[in-house]
Amino acid sequence: MKNNRELIVNWYNENKRNLPWRHDKDPYHVWISEIMLQQTRIEAVMNYYHRFMNEIPDIETLANIEEDKLLKLWEGLGYYNRAKNLKKAAIEIISNYQGNFPTTYVEIIKLPGIGEYTASAISSICFNEPQVTIDGNVLRVYARFYNDKRNVDDPKTKKAIRDELMQFVPTESGSFNQGLMEIGETICLPNGLPKCEICPLAKDCLAKKNNTYSNLPVKAKKKDKKEEDYTVLIYHYQNKYAIYKRTKETLLNNLWAFPVINKNLSSIQLKEYLKEQNIAFNSISKGPMNTHIFTHKKWNMTSYIIELKNIESMENYKWVTKKDLEYTYAIPTAFQPFREVITKKEEKQK
Ligand code: ADE
Ligand code: SF4
Repeated sequence: MKNNRELIVNWYNENKRNLPWRHDKDPYHVWISEIMLQQTRIEAVMNYYHRFMNEIPDIETLANIEEDKLLKLWEGLGYYNRAKNLKKAAIEIISNYQGNFPTTYVEIIKLPGIGEYTASAISSICFNEPQVTIDGNVLRVYARFYNDKRNVDDPKTKKAIRDELMQFVPTESGSFNQGLMEIGETICLPNGLPKCEICPLAKDCLAKKNNTYSNLPVKAKKKDKKEEDYTVLIYHYQNKYAIYKRTKETLLNNLWAFPVINKNLSSIQLKEYLKEQNIAFNSISKGPMNTHIFTHKKWNMTSYIIELKNIESMENYKWVTKKDLEYTYAIPTAFQPFREVITKKEEKQK
């Protein structure tokens, strides 16, 4: 690969996709886009990125943004701690670097929420520091190029590949890194479908030569996800609905959501539960079901819409309107179908 490093740089400079965060090398733009790109595909990031930059155009605005507003801009991206860390990092940049983004890998990696990958990306793309970015794309291209059968999910493999690439990262490290990532994203596609005929690395690629690309990269076997059952309670009174901030949960902690019970309740069991809790209701009806897959868990969710007689003894909830749910509070993706049922319900009543 050393002999192909200029080729990778030149290929990138001529073929790179026109993406909004590539219009300048402003570390703020690169930082926000790289964190978003760790969550989802480029096409989806585009909308989030534009909305984010319209509302939060610079580090100072980010340092002062209200948390609910920040989370609303992040709604649907997942890993909400990443959004909170953006704000923490912005505050540190204001207090430790007079508001100027730090310019070296060792300083950048100290910021909250910034690990090896992101610090390497920012320092190489914006400042051409000789650092390498190792993401899933780079690992795939590397494993195929060298016909390397080591398990890429093993941190030792990742470290060895990083050390190897560090030996010959060229002066234009930003273009080299983005070139390797972009080849992985647009040409050396996963699941055995690489477009070798247009790949700049085809001449020396060992997976192409040996026809082994379908089996590469080698990955660890996926563990089965733990399944959990939930009943979501959509409490409705006059024009308001109950949400609360999850504060003791392992998943989606500190985020707004509808109340839940940690098992799958039949409507009879739910009525018993409401009686026990002294919750006076007029009627209950079945709401939508949803399954949501997290990194290590799968949630099976059922729901009920509960029309209340009063909300005495329910002050611990926040009572919000349909509009509040749409414009003010970020509701995690797992709970979106239950918010949508509220929208539909109110539209029907009009
Ligand atoms: N994927 C994530 N970040 C990227 C970047 N900077 N260039 C190309 N692909 C990427
Ligand atoms: Fe991937 Fe084919 Fe390029 Fe090799 S030649 S790096 S397998 S796209």
